[in-house]
Amino acid sequence: MKSASQPLALLSCLLLVEVGLGFPTLAHLKPQASDELQTQAVRELLRRLIGARAGDFWLSVNSSVAGKDGLDTYQLASGEGGKVLVTGSTGVAAATGLYSYLKSHCGCHISWSGMQLQLPSPLPAVREVIRVTTPNRFRYYQNVCTASYSFVWWDWDRWEKEIDWMALSGINLPLAFVGQEVIWQRVYLMLGLNKSEIDDYFTGPAFLAWGRMGNIHSWAGPLPVSWHLKQLYLQYRILGRMRSLGMIPVLPAFAGHVPGALLRVFPEMNVTKLGGWAGFDCTYSCSYVLDPEDAMFQVIGALFMKELTREFGTNHIYNADTFNEMCPSSSDPTYLSGISAAIYKSMTAVDPDAIWLLQGWIFVNSPSFWKPTQTRALLHGAPLGKIIVLDLFAETMPVYLQTDSFYGQPFIWCMLHNFGGNHGMFGSVESINRGPFDAMSFPNSTMVGTGLAPEGIEQNDMIYELMNEIGWSRKPVNLSQWISWYTVRRYGSQNAQTLAAWQLLLRSVYNCTIQWKDHNQSPLVHRPSLKMKTNVWYNRSDLFEAWQLLQNASAELSKSKTFLYDLVDVTREVVQQLVALYYLDIKQAYENQSLPDLLTSGGVLVYDLIPEMDALLSSQTQFLLGRWLEEARTVATSEQEASLYEMNARNQLTLWGPMGNILDYANKEFGGLVSDYYGMRWNLFVTSLVECLNTGKPFHQDKFNQLVFQVERGFIYNQKQYPVNPVGDTVQIVKRIFLKYYPQTKKLHKNANNN
Ligand SMILES: *[C@@H]1O[C@H](CO)[C@@H](O)[C@H](O)[C@H]1NC(C)=O
Ligand SMILES: *[C@@H]1O[C@H](CO)[C@@H](O)[C@H](O)[C@H]1NC(C)=O
Ligand SMILES: *[C@@H]1O[C@H](CO)[C@@H](O)[C@H](O)[C@H]1NC(C)=O
Ligand SMILES: *[C@@H]1O[C@H](CO)[C@@H](O)[C@H](O)[C@H]1NC(C)=O
Ligand SMILES: *[C@@H]1O[C@H](CO)[C@@H](O)[C@H](O)[C@H]1NC(C)=O
Ligand SMILES: *[C@@H]1O[C@H](CO)[C@@H](O)[C@H](O)[C@H]1NC(C)=O
Ligand SMILES: *[C@@H]1O[C@H](CO)[C@@H](O)[C@H](O)[C@H]1NC(C)=O
Ligand SMILES: *[C@@H]1O[C@H](CO)[C@@H](O)[C@H](O)[C@H]1NC(C)=O
Ligand SMILES: *[C@@H]1O[C@H](CO)[C@@H](O)[C@H](O)[C@H]1NC(C)=O
Repeated sequence: MKSASQPLALLSCLLLVEVGLGFPTLAHLKPQASDELQTQAVRELLRRLIGARAGDFWLSVNSSVAGKDGLDTYQLASGEGGKVLVTGSTGVAAATGLYSYLKSHCGCHISWSGMQLQLPSPLPAVREVIRVTTPNRFRYYQNVCTASYSFVWWDWDRWEKEIDWMALSGINLPLAFVGQEVIWQRVYLMLGLNKSEIDDYFTGPAFLAWGRMGNIHSWAGPLPVSWHLKQLYLQYRILGRMRSLGMIPVLPAFAGHVPGALLRVFPEMNVTKLGGWAGFDCTYSCSYVLDPEDAMFQVIGALFMKELTREFGTNHIYNADTFNEMCPSSSDPTYLSGISAAIYKSMTAVDPDAIWLLQGWIFVNSPSFWKPTQTRALLHGAPLGKIIVLDLFAETMPVYLQTDSFYGQPFIWCMLHNFGGNHGMFGSVESINRGPFDAMSFPNSTMVGTGLAPEGIEQNDMIYELMNEIGWSRKPVNLSQWISWYTVRRYGSQNAQTLAAWQLLLRSVYNCTIQWKDHNQSPLVHRPSLKMKTNVWYNRSDLFEAWQLLQNASAELSKSKTFLYDLVDVTREVVQQLVALYYLDIKQAYENQSLPDLLTSGGVLVYDLIPEMDALLSSQTQFLLGRWLEEARTVATSEQEASLYEMNARNQLTLWGPMGNILDYANKEFGGLVSDYYGMRWNLFVTSLVECLNTGKPFHQDKFNQLVFQVERGFIYNQKQYPVNPVGDTVQIVKRIFLKYYPQTKKLHKNANNN
C-alpha cells in the first residue's frame, strides 16, 4: 500500500473523476419512490431518531439537486428560526446529510453498539451552505452470509433500526434476501415436487445463506410453515421501507442449482453433481447444477423471476452465484460463458432491464481455477455493463487489479472485513482509506461504487463508520484526526485518556497491513491442541496500554453506553491475548514435563481467567448468549420449532454442521458460551495434559478430539437457559480483571517474545 504522503498518490486524488458514469446500462437503477414519498420517509426516520427535536430540522428530498449524471448529493444550510435545512437528491442522500450534520456540528454518533445523541440547543448554525456529492454511484451493503450470521432471527423492529442505519450511512444498494424460500417453495410445487421433498431440501434458518448458494441442503431443517409466513411479512416491510427511502434493493435470481428430487419429476434433466462443500458429505452437500443448455434452465429461471417480481416488485437488479467455493465441473470457457449467458437470459426473459450482481468471492477463493481465460469467459457471458461484480475482499485481495478491471464489467470496491461474525478487534485502516481512490484512478477503471460486505455485523463499529464516510469522500481522510473526533463523538466528551487509547488502537489492532485472513484465530475460541496459532499482526503492548487508559477513564465515563461497550470489547480482546499467552506457558510446561508449572498456568486459565471473561461479557447486553438464543426461540410458534431454532442458533456458533464440519468458524465471545463451551474444552485439555504427565503417556490429539467432541456436542443439547439481561457491574469487573492481570501482561508478553 502506498502511503498517503507520496506525491503520486496525491496526484491520483486530484485527477479523480466521478466513477460509474461510463455505464448508461445502469442508469435505470435509481429510486422509484417520488420525492414527496422519500421526504416523508426520511422525516419519519428523523423522528424515530431524535423525537421532538425533529422540529428543529427541515428535511426534504429534491431529485433536482443531484450532482452531475445524477450522483447522490446533499445540501446543508441554516434557515428561518434557526432551523437546519437538509436537502437530499434521494432519501438516502438526505439521511446521509442529516447524519453528516449531526457528526460535524453536534458531535453525535450512531452505531450498532449504541448512539450518542446529545443535541445542543439551539442547533449550531451552518455558516455557509454545504453541498456534498458522492463520487460513487452505488454504496452497497451486505454479504450473502450476513443473512445467516447476523440477521437470521431479526424481527421488524430490528430491521427498521438497520434500514435507518443504512440510510444514515449513505447506503443505497442493499441486498433484500428475506423470504426467498417462499418463492422457491411455490416454484418447486409448480414443478411437481411434493411438500416433503421440499422440506427435505431447505436448510434450517441459521444455514440458509449456504442453502441458497447450493453449498448445502437439508442440514438443520425443515423450515416450518410459520417461518415462511413470517419471512414473507418481513420482506414486504423491508422492501417497502428501503424503497421509500430511495434505496435500490437487490433481489435473488436463479443460479442453476436444483433439488435432487426434481430428477424424479424430470429424469431427463441434464445436471452435474458438484463435490461436497467444506467437509460436508453428500447427505447435506453435493448440489446439482443444471446444464445451461438444458431447456429446463430457462423454464425454472423464468418461473422464479416471474413469481418473485409478481410478489415483491423489482428494482431491476438481482444476485446469483453458481460456484461459491465450489469448482465448476468444467473449466472450458464455452461452458462457463454458457452458464452466465443462461443466468442472464433467464433474468432478462422476465425483466428486460435486469442487471446481474455477482459476488467476486469465487475469484479470491479459487484463483487456481479462475485463470484469466475462465474469469473472462464467465464475465463476458452477459453484455458489458449488465453484470456488476462485487470485488468482495478488495481491502486485502483486490481482484480488479489482476483482471484489467473485471475485463470491462463494472465493479464495486467492497470491504469484507469480518468473517463469521467473530468478535475480534480488527481493521486495515490504511487500505480502506486508500483502496477505493486507487481503484477509481486505475487505468480504464470500471468501478461504480464502494461497499461493505461483512459476513457478520455488530462488531468493530469504527471501521464501518470510516468505510461509510469513504464512500462519500473524494480523498482519503487524516486517520489520526478522524479517530480523535470519532472518540469524542462516540463518548460525548473530550477525554485525554480515551483519545490516547484510540490512537493506540488505531495503530495496532486497526492497522493490519499484511494479508490476514483468519482475523480471529485466538486459541480461546478454537479447539485446543499443542499446535495452536498465537501470532497477531500488531504489537500487543499497544493494546494493553489502551486497556490501561480506558480502565483509568472508566470512573469518568461510566454513564456512556458506548464507552461501556468498548471497555468490555477491549478487555475482551486483552483477555483473548492473555489466553494465548497462558496457552504458551501451558504448552511449555507440558513440553518441559513440569507438572507444577502446568497446574499453575492451567489453573489460572481454567479457574480464573476464563470465568472472569464470562463474567465480563455477561455484564453487557450485546455480549449475551442468552439474547442470541432467545431471539431464535422468539421466532418460533411452538415448542418444537423453538427447539429446532435453538439447535440452529447453537450449532452455527460452534460445530457448524453435524460433525464439526466448519468447527468454530462463526465463533462468538458471548457470556455463557465462554464458560460452557470454550471453558469446558480448555478444562478438558488441561486435565488431559496433567493426566499425560502423571501417567507418562504422550498426548494424542485424535483421542482428545473424540473426547472433546462430546463436550462440543453436549453444549448444543445442554438445554441450559442463559440470562437475557446483563448481570454485574462492568466497571467493577474490569477493575478486578485489571488489578489481577495487568501486571501479567508485561511478564507473559516478555516470555512469549516477538508475538
Ligand atoms: C428543487 O430544486 C430545484 C433546483 O434547486 C428548485 O428549482 C426547485 O424549486 C426545488 N423543488 C422544490 C419542490 O423545492
Ligand atoms: C413425495 O414424493 C416421494 C417420492 O415420490 C414419496 O416417497 C413421498 O411419499 C411423497 N410424499 C408425500 C407427502 O406425498
Ligand atoms: C449435459 O451437460 C454437460 C455439462 O453441463 C454437457 O457437457 C453435456 O454435453 C450435456 N449432455 C447433453 C446430452 O446435453
Ligand atoms: C484504456 O482504454 C483505451 C481505449 O479503449 C485503450 O486504448 C487503452 O489502451 C486502455 N488503457 C489501459 C491501460 O488499459
Ligand atoms: C494528520 O493530522 C495530525 C494531527 O492534526 C497531524 O499531526 C498530521 O501531520 C496529519 N497527517 C497528515 C498526513 O496530514
Ligand atoms: C500503519 O502501519 C504502517 C506500516 O507500519 C504505517 O506506515 C502507518 O503509518 C500506520 N498507520 C496508522 C494509522 O497507524
Ligand atoms: C511495542 O510497543 C512498545 C510500547 O508500546 C514498545 O516498547 C516496543 O518496543 C514495541 N515492540 C515492537 C516489537 O515494536
Ligand atoms: C489515571 O487517571 C488519573 C486521574 O483520573 C491520573 O492522575 C493518572 O495519571 C492516570 N493514569 C494513567 C496511566 O493514565
Ligand atoms: C521450560 O524449560 C526451559 C528450558 O529448559 C526453561 O527455560 C523454561 O523456563 C521452562 N519453562 C517452564 C514454563 O517451565
